[in-house]
Amino acid sequence: MKFDPSLCHNEREVESKLIVSYLLPKLGYSIDLWRQEHKLNRFRLDFSAYSHSETTTDIVFEAKHPDRNLNDHFQQLKEYMLELQIPYGMLTNGKEIIIYKNTNNNVQRIFSCWGRKIEENIGKIKSLIGKETLAREIKSTGHNMKIIAVYHNKGGVGKTTTVVNLAATFSKMGKRVLVIDLDSQANCTFATGLVNFGDEEKDNLKGSYVYHVLKTRQAASIKEVARKSHFSSHEIDVVPSHILLMKVEDELNQYDYVKGLLFKKLEAVKDEYDIVIIDTPPSLNLYAKLALITSNYLLIPSDLKPFANEGLENVRDFIEDNNEFRDMMGRGPIEVLGVLPTKISTNARFIQGTLQKRLASVSQRYKFEVMNSIIFERDDLAKCTEQTVQIDDVEVSEPRSIVDFKSNSKSVGEFEKLAAEILEKIGLS
Ligand SMILES: Nc1ncnc2c1ncn2[C@@H]1O[C@H](COP(=O)(O)OP(=O)(O)O)[C@@H](O)[C@H]1O
Ligand SMILES: [Mg+2]
Repeated sequence: MKFDPSLCHNEREVESKLIVSYLLPKLGYSIDLWRQEHKLNRFRLDFSAYSHSETTTDIVFEAKHPDRNLNDHFQQLKEYMLELQIPYGMLTNGKEIIIYKNTNNNVQRIFSCWGRKIEENIGKIKSLIGKETLAREIKSTGHNMKIIAVYHNKGGVGKTTTVVNLAATFSKMGKRVLVIDLDSQANCTFATGLVNFGDEEKDNLKGSYVYHVLKTRQAASIKEVARKSHFSSHEIDVVPSHILLMKVEDELNQYDYVKGLLFKKLEAVKDEYDIVIIDTPPSLNLYAKLALITSNYLLIPSDLKPFANEGLENVRDFIEDNNEFRDMMGRGPIEVLGVLPTKISTNARFIQGTLQKRLASVSQRYKFEVMNSIIFERDDLAKCTEQTVQIDDVEVSEPRSIVDFKSNSKSVGEFEKLAAEILEKIGLS
């Protein structure tokens, strides 16, 4: 089958003669892999195709009348690609073909040629946007769901506070968020309101928490174990932890494959969440390893006090050890977003003096990048987790996210800034 642009007199013919009869088959998109007049959100795409999963769109094709100038239609295509998170796009009027790529929300032209030269360029076009290429690419880059570990091997530096309030902020911004608590202290499970029973007889967590996702034989799926939390008015799912997680570490440690298991389990929900945040124990144990093996990114909260700073040496070694394992799994090293200053005193003299020295030490001595955002020490942040309600004379904990507790507080502004900084860095803004 050949293509002759002089046979295209209108948009319909560009669609049928170029896209349907020529391009889609040549590029390997069989009839079950593409859709015409595909309605997605508020848009209607001329053609869309996918390489591996029906729930995603890997490329959009827009056909125009042969008299139209393609440059006039770029804005529209760009809007589709950005808003619908489509990685590739093609614009054509039959006479000319332009291919665009969306890399971290930056849409750029990667190829163009004349319609009459398509025959001699089809190999090149196929290598850019053919089904095989896109299937391979999507497999190797994973998907759009981003997994962030929040880790430092020192306790009390604000990890859990960061996890739960960042999750609430992302959710408020419209992201679909999953939180996983991998710390047997279960502070994150508590702070997200899942410990809603007054005494242990009513403990409804121990039969289904993160252990059940990891245990050998008949391990549960993320979906089965995740619960809806109510600490935030913006929806967040949480895979809870439990103090019993401590006791099963030896059992889980016997099986090497456990280290790759959480990543594998998350694959199954990659279309359901935009962001997964993992809270970790202040240790170098199996659960901390799991977090660093599973995540795409690492955020390191630190109060920057001497021990926390010295602990950064351990963090560095720990990252390297886990990167070895990732390498064996065929994954690249974890990407360090940076050290996040937390629980920072608002005292002006401290900010101008000591804080600056401590920040400089993180980058100069410990060679870690420092985030631009700072989470200051504020009573509201500690208080929102300690909220309680009286039910039948019994005091029951009812933690709130800072967003719900005091929506106009300075802490909310700080978390918004942090969320924006992270989204920018992970290409989800
Ligand atoms: N920015 C902050 N301002 C005030 N108190 C904070 C702040 N961050 C954390 N805290 C408090 O410090 C304690 C330890 O914080 P947490 O987030 O549990 O640390 P980690 O998870 O690293 O052990 C908690 O009581 C928490 O309420
Ligand atoms: Mg914690």
